[in-house]
Amino acid sequence: MIDFQKLANDYGTPLYVYDAVEIRERIRRAREVFKGFNAGIVFALKANGNPALLKIMAQEGVGADVVSKGELLAAKMAGMKTIVWNGNGKCSSEREHFTNKGINYVSIDSFEELPLWDGVEIIKLLRVNPDVDARTHPHISTGLKSHKFGVPIEKIDRVADRIDGLHVHIGSQITEVAPFLDAYSKVLDCAKKYGFKYINLGGGWGIDYSGDSLDIEALKSGITALFSDYDGKLISELGRFIVGPAGYLVAGVVSVKHSDKVFVVTDAGMNTLIRPVLYDAHHRIRVLNGTGKTVTADVVGPLCESGDILARDRRLEIPIPGSAIVFENAGAYGFSMASNYNGMPLPAEILVDGKEVKLIRKRQSIEELFVNVKI
Ligand SMILES: Cc1ncc(COP(=O)(O)O)c(C=O)c1O
Repeated sequence: MIDFQKLANDYGTPLYVYDAVEIRERIRRAREVFKGFNAGIVFALKANGNPALLKIMAQEGVGADVVSKGELLAAKMAGMKTIVWNGNGKCSSEREHFTNKGINYVSIDSFEELPLWDGVEIIKLLRVNPDVDARTHPHISTGLKSHKFGVPIEKIDRVADRIDGLHVHIGSQITEVAPFLDAYSKVLDCAKKYGFKYINLGGGWGIDYSGDSLDIEALKSGITALFSDYDGKLISELGRFIVGPAGYLVAGVVSVKHSDKVFVVTDAGMNTLIRPVLYDAHHRIRVLNGTGKTVTADVVGPLCESGDILARDRRLEIPIPGSAIVFENAGAYGFSMASNYNGMPLPAEILVDGKEVKLIRKRQSIEELFVNVKI
């Protein structure tokens, strides 16, 4: 059991805490899904790009899905071997940078991008849009024709001889198996038709934020049946599934305000964890030191925004000001989406590996906010 209050006392709040044992366990579970297949796992750094976490993944043989030079650097720092470059807006200076660094796969997002890769030594996957509704939050849904990603799957005939395989990613935090199998089967049919030897299945596996999660066993059965006679290579590009449940946000309780509603005011705001505001996301909360009295409260941050809410109308024990509360499932799209809004420095990050506790990112200082500023 991680002693979150002690970590809060020792390192201050807000603080992201990650559990290395859980990360390894989740990688093992992901691998289990592809048992018996020629398959590799790459981690989507957009979910969390801390190189200390990536190093754990690299040691487990996990590669990287990167979309920027910054993410590529983090992956290289961590020693990740297989690199997939994704993105719908790759610019020419990035293209030169990435090809010089010897990456393995590129996911090509459009017919317009394709000629830029002709003659380049790299495994070329074309991102296809299968027109499948992932039935997740609209902001993290990517597989419909109206979305900006990929090309219509039925239109690849004219370019099939210029690519090595296909890439599909229909969205994130998907909790039903059917949309995955629907998309995968369309891609598989297409790969068989043209003899493609690579299929990148994207990520999107949903985790249990509030009781709903993807049935991994059912997904495994579906994948096993679907790909049983495919002899090419499968790539799984997971973010949230690997790191989401392994991360926690520890926030300090600044005050408990009683007005029309009860507000628990914490030192973490939407600058620290934007998911509740951006995606109506639900993070379970643990009160570490409570008063014994349960109320319905909004848990809010310190920013000058009415939308700065981390949890709405939540039944919880009133915490004692000065103590810490914990937001669960904060490992993915938590720190990686944090900002300096309202002049707030980025939080510190801690890695717990069994009994070992390590500071893997210092809290940003106020002075560091202005290192690039000239007046
Ligand atoms: C192309 C691509 N691959 C993989 C992922 C990872 O998704 P998730 O974190 O839901 O596994 C994303 C994130 O949306 C993505 O855009």
